Amino acid sequence: MKRFCIILVAALFVQAYLPVRAQSLPKIGTSSIEEVVSAMTLHEKASFLVGVVSYGKNADGTTRKAVPGAAGGSVEIPRLGIPFTYYPDGPQGVRISPTRKGTDKTFYFTAFPIATMMAATWNADLSGEVGEAMGNEALEYGNDILLAPAINIHRNPLCGRNFEYYSEDPFLAGKMAAAMIRGVQSNGVGTSLKHFAVNSQETFRRENDARVGQRALREIYLKGFEIAVKEGKPWTIMSAYNQINGTTASENWALLTGILRNEWGFDGFVMTDWTEFTRNTAAQIKAGNEQLMPGLTKQVEQIEKAVADGDLTMADVDLAVTRMLRVLVKSPSFRGYKYSDTPDLAAHAAIARRAADEGIVLLKNEGGLLPLRDTHKKVALFGFGSYKIYQGGTGSGNVNTTGIVNIDTALKEAGFELQEDLAATYDGVRIDFKIGEKLAKLRAADCDLAIFTIRRSAGEFVDRREIKGDFYLTDNETASLKNVTEAFHAAGKKVIVLLNTGGVIETASWKDWADAIVLPWQPGVEAGHAVVDVLTGRCNPSGKLPMTWPVAYNDIPSSKNFPSNFEGNSWRKGPVRDAFDPNKRNEGYTEYEEGIWVGYRHFSTFGVPVSFPFGYGLSYTTFDYSKPVVKAGKKGTFTASVTVTNTGKAAGKEVVELFVTAPKGTMEKPARELKGFAKTRVLAPGESQTVTISFDTYGLASFDETLNAWVTDKGEYTANFCASVDDVRASAPFKVKKAAVNKLTVTL
Ligand code: BGC
Repeated sequence: MKRFCIILVAALFVQAYLPVRAQSLPKIGTSSIEEVVSAMTLHEKASFLVGVVSYGKNADGTTRKAVPGAAGGSVEIPRLGIPFTYYPDGPQGVRISPTRKGTDKTFYFTAFPIATMMAATWNADLSGEVGEAMGNEALEYGNDILLAPAINIHRNPLCGRNFEYYSEDPFLAGKMAAAMIRGVQSNGVGTSLKHFAVNSQETFRRENDARVGQRALREIYLKGFEIAVKEGKPWTIMSAYNQINGTTASENWALLTGILRNEWGFDGFVMTDWTEFTRNTAAQIKAGNEQLMPGLTKQVEQIEKAVADGDLTMADVDLAVTRMLRVLVKSPSFRGYKYSDTPDLAAHAAIARRAADEGIVLLKNEGGLLPLRDTHKKVALFGFGSYKIYQGGTGSGNVNTTGIVNIDTALKEAGFELQEDLAATYDGVRIDFKIGEKLAKLRAADCDLAIFTIRRSAGEFVDRREIKGDFYLTDNETASLKNVTEAFHAAGKKVIVLLNTGGVIETASWKDWADAIVLPWQPGVEAGHAVVDVLTGRCNPSGKLPMTWPVAYNDIPSSKNFPSNFEGNSWRKGPVRDAFDPNKRNEGYTEYEEGIWVGYRHFSTFGVPVSFPFGYGLSYTTFDYSKPVVKAGKKGTFTASVTVTNTGKAAGKEVVELFVTAPKGTMEKPARELKGFAKTRVLAPGESQTVTISFDTYGLASFDETLNAWVTDKGEYTANFCASVDDVRASAPFKVKKAAVNKLTVTL
């Protein structure tokens, strides 16, 4: 009996506990993340930290089931309820394959204006709206994390990927990115803020060592990330390929843990940028880089070996897996979201058009030529870009959009008559050719107006070059523009130049020839409509430059320390890549000798003439700034306000840029630094609006390298309310009564 009882109790125990544990394996959704992690084998953990291999295959060879064309994702572990997730690029829209095998259905998505153009709107709310629409497309096409926004600094205009980045100014970039992140993530999909950090050139970007001083790092290269992380709270960060002062970004504990998590409070996970080059896998995970992308089988093995060898502890691995899971449980795939594959593309195109309308910058408008009042004019439309606009740049930031509206189409839609022989001349022609004097005269005789589009494209993998056809006009472009402007002016007619470019080109040598210059950048799918909106005055331009347009390339402080004329693709396997030399200046390493003197900080402080200054942009109306005030609030906060009145004849919006001048202190400082901005609503002629801009003493601080501290000097500051960095319209003094010193422990 006693024996029977023991057996019975034992059997009951076994039935009550052991089978339950075996049957009810922890599952995502019903068990805690800790329980799920403790049920994972080391191989599962290692596989989870390694992304999907080359567009659709996992590290273990299995194929992902959905969203072809998404650049990456995380692997599934079905026994624990962990599904695949999908991460598509990129900053301009959701980059996935628009067509799929076995179906006629298409998966096109909206190309919004490039990031630089979004920055030119100076409208953070609009950046949020674009983000919301982009996030909706990510969601409805079954994705989880959008690999955007990208926020590297326009250190030099020739960086190939500047079009994906916002600005030369980290404050503007940080604010626009934060708003975009909030917009995307309001859909319950994540973002990956990239490329962290100091990824300022394409030439040997995987190998290059960016050698930067602590002050420039903090004030210029990290500041935008700091703002975007604190205010946008991205789910993930993408670590950059390059090294910073000798340590690869993805292996950089100071960057990924010391600064990102400990100083800024980031609580998501970090993924590497995509490469087939392995780094020190254990060092990456120890540094706080959780996911390795795009993922290589050998990285799974490396993690397992590192644990066996003691280079990584199981606790290190568990922490990384836990951090990933904490984020991914919020994702649509983990939530089992039933996506439609039919986002409202028409509604999103309307948002793209509004964004493009607001990002177009009017650079010149001699004699009030624009807006064109008579839309029945006959137009001579020159330049390839007039017939086939570049809506965006190239590389992973390029999007498979459909239905791009070209300028010629939009002009015709608006009622303009186009000179058809010219259209035929450009049709199908790929090579640059010259508009001779004779042709220019013919068109000047039979047309009322000339529009001349200069088109430039750039993108990932190669930097732009300081050559004709890139930074400079080609000889044919120069001759054509000269011939056209001379012929039209001789006939008493006008010429409008459109700049269809993602970044800066040389303008000083030819800008006097044109009557009007309009900068529509690379404006996304609604390109032509937006251009015509501005030309006709349906939209009064309100965009302002997010970077300086210098007179000469050599005026740019980084011009001596940039691979300005590097030939070939340093990314692709082959002789160019094979010739890599770690000791070669601007290739193996780049000295950021200019320190904080990037963009307007240099030009405005040292009085170097520019072609168009940072923050510049004209309107069809005029604005008056009055009643500038700065009020001190509690705990080192300030509110600056100014009243803007539309003093012209057209309704319009104005961007107010708040540049602060600091008192003389121990550190050398820029003459003016951007500390805030605001955009008015559409003001009718005569109407006023008071805009308020908040900032605080921390935002005023400069970085003192000797103390390794953010220091806000006490004393009298000036708040300059500006229409561009060089156009101070009103100013007000304010006092910081007590100096503030915020000492840090980490250096990079
Ligand atoms: C780019 C990233 C991009 C990734 C995935 C990399 O080459 O640098 O910006 O998100 O590819 O396509």
